Amino acid sequence: MPASQNAPKPVDELDPIEARAEHDTLGAEIAEHDRRYYQEDAPAVSDAEYDALRKRYEALEAQYPELKTAESLTRKVGSKVSEKFAKIRHSVPMLSLANGFSDEEVQDFVARIRRFLQLKPEMPLLFVAEPKIDGLSLSLRYEGGRLVSAATRGDGAVGEDVTANARTVKDIPHVLKGKGIPEVCEVRGEVYLSHEDFAAINDRQLAAGKPVFANPRNAAAGSLRQLDSAITATRPLRFFAYAWGQMSAMPSGTQEGMIACFRSFGLKTNPLTRLCASVDEMLEHYHAIETDRANLGYDIDGVVYKVNDLNLQERLGFVSRSPRWALAHKFPAQEAVTVVEDIEINVGRTGSLNPIAKLKPVTVGGVVVSNATLHNEDYIKGIGGNGESIRNGADIRVGDTVVILRAGDVIPKVIDVVLDKRPGDAHPYIFPTVCPACGSHAVREVNPRTGKEDSVRRCTGGLICPAQARERLKHFVSRNAFDIEGLGEQRIEEFYAEGMIQRPQDIFTLETRNARSLQRLENREGWGATSTRNLFAAIAERRNVSLNRFIFALGIPHIGETSARLLARHFGTFEALRETALAAQDHGSEAYAELTSIGGIGKVVADAVVEFFKERHNEDMLDALLKEVTLEPIEAAASDSPVAGKIVVFTGSLEQMTREEAKAMAERLGAKVAGSVSKKTDLVVAGPGAGSKLKKAEEFDVKVLTEDGWFELIGRR
Ligand code: IVH
Repeated sequence: MPASQNAPKPVDELDPIEARAEHDTLGAEIAEHDRRYYQEDAPAVSDAEYDALRKRYEALEAQYPELKTAESLTRKVGSKVSEKFAKIRHSVPMLSLANGFSDEEVQDFVARIRRFLQLKPEMPLLFVAEPKIDGLSLSLRYEGGRLVSAATRGDGAVGEDVTANARTVKDIPHVLKGKGIPEVCEVRGEVYLSHEDFAAINDRQLAAGKPVFANPRNAAAGSLRQLDSAITATRPLRFFAYAWGQMSAMPSGTQEGMIACFRSFGLKTNPLTRLCASVDEMLEHYHAIETDRANLGYDIDGVVYKVNDLNLQERLGFVSRSPRWALAHKFPAQEAVTVVEDIEINVGRTGSLNPIAKLKPVTVGGVVVSNATLHNEDYIKGIGGNGESIRNGADIRVGDTVVILRAGDVIPKVIDVVLDKRPGDAHPYIFPTVCPACGSHAVREVNPRTGKEDSVRRCTGGLICPAQARERLKHFVSRNAFDIEGLGEQRIEEFYAEGMIQRPQDIFTLETRNARSLQRLENREGWGATSTRNLFAAIAERRNVSLNRFIFALGIPHIGETSARLLARHFGTFEALRETALAAQDHGSEAYAELTSIGGIGKVVADAVVEFFKERHNEDMLDALLKEVTLEPIEAAASDSPVAGKIVVFTGSLEQMTREEAKAMAERLGAKVAGSVSKKTDLVVAGPGAGSKLKKAEEFDVKVLTEDGWFELIGRR
C-alpha cells in the first residue's frame, strides 16, 4: 500500500524532509493515476480517493510553498496526450474545477467570492447549479455554424483530434441552427453514456469475447477515442453542453443565458440546470439532485456551481488550474447493500492475514463487486482498527447483509452491517490463529512502546510460508523494484508453483538451470524460443540495479520507495547499511542511534530494518543475491535529476536500450519524451542513422547527445 494511503500525519506536523519525500511519492502516484485515467481509460482508484490524494498534495504545497515548482502537478490539468490521435491546440485552455465535499465548503466558496468581489451582504450574487456529468469533456469548434473540429481535453492545452468520432454522436449537430450564432463558436461539454446503453455495450463486448468496461465513463472514453469512427458510431454516445472556449462574439452576458443560447442552437443542455440566489438554494438543489441521482439514467458525480454573471467571472479569474468562479461539489463515494457469503483470508507479503468478504455480486456505479476488504481481526469484531470501524459498531458475520463502499477498481470496503437482516443462525466469525497457507502460528504482536496489540495478525512462517514467499517475489519483480519485463505476477505464480523460482536469487540462476533442465522452458506450452530468450534478456538487464531499488525490492515491512531512497542516500552502499543494521540490534548502540536519526526514518522503520537483518534466512538470501546482482548508486529522483522537466526526443537506432526503455527511463527521471523536434525540445538523443529529427535539432539549436552522452548526463556511467 502506498505510504499516502496509511493514516497520514497532519501536514503541519511534517518536517521539510518528510514533506518533500511525501510530495515526491504522492506526485508520482497521482501522475500514474492520471496516466491510467487519461491514456488507458482505466483508472485504478475512485474519484474520491484520487481527490483525497490531490488534496493532500495541495496541502503539502500550501504548508511548504517551495514544493510548488514549475513541475508541480497543481500547475497541470489532465495528462499527456496520447500518440494515437492528431493533436489540436485549444485556443482557450480547457481547465479543471476545484472540488468541495461538504456544505461548509460551499459556504466558504460563496463567502470567498463575496470577499474577493467586495460585495456588501445585501448585494445579490447569482449562481448556476447543474449536475457534474461523469464522462469526458469535449471541445467542439463551429465556424460559420459548421462543426469543424472536436478535441478532447488532453493536457488542457493540447487535446486529441476526435472530429470524425464526434460527428457520429447524435447530440452533436454538424450544423448549428437558429439566430445569433457567433462566427467562431467553441462549445464545450461532456460526452457520456446512459446506464442502459452502457449495459448493452458491455453485453456486446462479452458476447464478442472482449473485455468489459468498468463503468460508463470508461466506456464513453474508450468509445470516443476509437481510431475507427465506425466503431464509435455503434456506441450511442451523448453530449451535454455546459461551457465554451473561443467565441468571436458573446451571445449572452450570463452563464444561464449562454446555456439557453446553446440550447437554441440545437445543442443538448442539462435539464437540471438551476439559477440560485443563495447558498441555501444551491445546497437544496444539490441535495435534490443527490436524492434523484439513481433515477437519472446516467452517472453524475456531483453538482457544479458557477457564478452567473460573466463580468464577475472575468473579474474572479483563475487560480492555477481552475476558475475561482466555479466549484464542483462532489457526492460522497458510492454505496451498495449485499450479503456476505463467506470470509476468506489472504496472506500478504509481510505475513499479514487479510480478511476478505466474498459477497453476493452487486453492481455499484456500473461495476460488479464480489469482494470487499474487512481490514483485520478487530474490524470484523466491530472494534475498529487503524482509525476505521464499522459504522454501527457491529461485528461482521457470514450471512450478514452489509453496506459496501466502492473505491473504484480497488477493493471495496464493508462499512456497515444491517443488523435487522442478520440470520438467526449467524455466529461470530472466528479469526484463524494459524496461517491458512502454511499452518504456522499467526500472532498479533504487542508494540513494546505502547503495550498495545497490533490489529493485524501475522503468520510467523516467514519464507517457509508459500503465500509470503510468493508475495515477496511479486514485490521483488514489481515496477518500482527490479521491474523485470515479462516476469509479472502470473509468471511468478507459475514458476513458484513449479518450484523453479522460490527465492529472489533463483530468478538470476533460472537461465543456467534451464539450460541443464530436461523440461526446457522454450519447449513448454505457451513458451517458445523468442519468449524464453526475451525473458532471460530482461532478467540479465536487471543484474545491475540501483541501491534504492534493491533496498525497496527486499520487501522489508514499512520500507516504501521513499524510505528505501532515504536509506540508500544515507548509507551510500549496501554493506554500510547492513553493518549498521546488524550492530543496531543493541538499541543502546551508536548504530541504532544513527539509524533513527536519519531524517524521514522513524523508529518503526528502523526497527523493521534491524529485524530484517537479524533473520538468518534473510542474510543467506542476501549473500546469494549479491553474488548475482551488481548494485549501482542511488537513482536520481525525478525532481533532482538533470533532465527533470526537460523535453527529450530519442531518434535513430539506439544500441544500448530499446526505444520504450529509453522513454520509460527518461520519464522516470522526470523528463517528457516527445515524438518530434520543435523549438521547445531541450535535448535530442541521437543514435546512428538519425535523419530529419537530427537536422531539425541543428536548425533549432537544440542540444544533441549520443546514447553514451545520455547515460553520462543521467549519471549512469
Ligand atoms: S465546467 C473551467 N460543468 O468536470 C471549467 N465541467 O473537474 C469548465 N464536468 O473537465 C468545466 N460536468 O469534464 C463543468 N456541468 C459541468 C460539468 C463539468 C462535468 C467535468 C468536465 C471538467 C471536469 C472538471
